[in-house]
Amino acid sequence: MFDKNTFVNRRKQLKNKSLKGIALLLGNTESPMNYKDNTYHYRQDSSFLYFFGLDFPGLAGVIDFDSGEDYIFGNDVDIEDIIWMGPQVSLKENGAKVGISNTAPFAKLFDLVKQVQDEGRTIHFLPPYRGENKILLEKLTGISSLVIQSKASLELIKAVISIREIKEDQEVKEIEKACATGYAMHVAAMRMAQPGTWEQKIAGTIEGISLAGGGMTSFPIILSQNGETLHNHDHSQLLQEGKLMLCDAGAESLLHYASDFTRTTPVGGKFTTKQREIYEIVLAANNKATELTKPGVTYLSIHLAAAEVIATGLKDLGLMKGDVKEAVAAGAHAMFFPHGLGHMMGLDVHDMEDLGQIYVGYDDEIQPVDQFGTAYLRLGKRLKPGFVVTNEPGCYFIPALIDKWKAEGINRDFINFEKVNEYRDFGGIRLEDDILVTETGAEIIGERVPISPDEVEKIVQKG
Ligand code: GLY
Ligand code: MN
Repeated sequence: MFDKNTFVNRRKQLKNKSLKGIALLLGNTESPMNYKDNTYHYRQDSSFLYFFGLDFPGLAGVIDFDSGEDYIFGNDVDIEDIIWMGPQVSLKENGAKVGISNTAPFAKLFDLVKQVQDEGRTIHFLPPYRGENKILLEKLTGISSLVIQSKASLELIKAVISIREIKEDQEVKEIEKACATGYAMHVAAMRMAQPGTWEQKIAGTIEGISLAGGGMTSFPIILSQNGETLHNHDHSQLLQEGKLMLCDAGAESLLHYASDFTRTTPVGGKFTTKQREIYEIVLAANNKATELTKPGVTYLSIHLAAAEVIATGLKDLGLMKGDVKEAVAAGAHAMFFPHGLGHMMGLDVHDMEDLGQIYVGYDDEIQPVDQFGTAYLRLGKRLKPGFVVTNEPGCYFIPALIDKWKAEGINRDFINFEKVNEYRDFGGIRLEDDILVTETGAEIIGERVPISPDEVEKIVQKG
């Protein structure tokens, strides 16, 4: 874990945000798979991890904005736990690691919350996303678990986002480690992209690489020769020569920082002309996005610039028509690129999405756009140095969407549906890199995962 001062300083930053009352941050509990003691791999809550650093279940942290005191609540183990889990560090010692001397058994949290309520002070909490913590918050505060999410503190949400969105150098180093593992995962997947290979065998192999690197995957692996399904977790097919394998996967570092890359690989190692043409368009959009990523620029404008690159390329191929700027303004590109350009990344692959995308990605100046495609953009606001984002443009041929737009005449002035029909079984291409916004521009984090079509072909051919 990071050193004690990291957590002391982070809590100090939060205390400097002028909140009154207390912040109550719940850690995560174990999550059973099929019976209580057979649990999913444990994952701590990211905001708890950020401010309190301790990576095990059964904890809650309190920051008292009025007195300046910090507390950790949790239970020390007994002899039975030691028999099953081995010797454990005491809560006191764990508290010391993150600069907290006020530690107490978990039940004492109820007393503290009651006292704060009796004093008429505010209890700020973040929106809970797990059932166990919704119920716990209900027991602590008396607010029904059915509505507790809507009672989360907007002040605390905004304060936490304003701190977590700027990555410390040591956090960027952790993301670099996750990216190095992600690099190995993607090159392994490319090498395995041979006709007849079971998609699940590739997905399982690269998940193993993530685990061997020290962390879980940062999200369930997306890997399929039906890449036109944006989040395809079905890995049941055997790869066919001539298809494209889309792999969207990343790892967590030991300290739970994420990577998130997408590459698209020709099965058997040779792009067809059609595939290479679309690939080059998506690559140009990806490169354009990286070139434009810099402080002070709105991410919404970069998303729209990437959409223009895609629309221009598709127009050159005869798939779109008319004025490109007008086409993008009308949202016509979204039949091919129906998602956002990218998102913030950090302790979560979609960083802080639990706190509300509207607060993470938007602000008073830049509001979400209510148009199909761009409406899925998770980040629109102006970039700042220290942001980590992913740039992930794509181009897909989704038969159901093509049929719907054609039948309803949606954007018929900008789309050549006859020509599009020739691409019905194309699949999809997405190319995603992880980017650090610097003081003057942006840089790709770590060594760039092979992306030029020649490079990718060579890796597959070498096997
Ligand atoms: N890589 C998955 C996503 O960004 O949604
Ligand atoms: Mn992503």
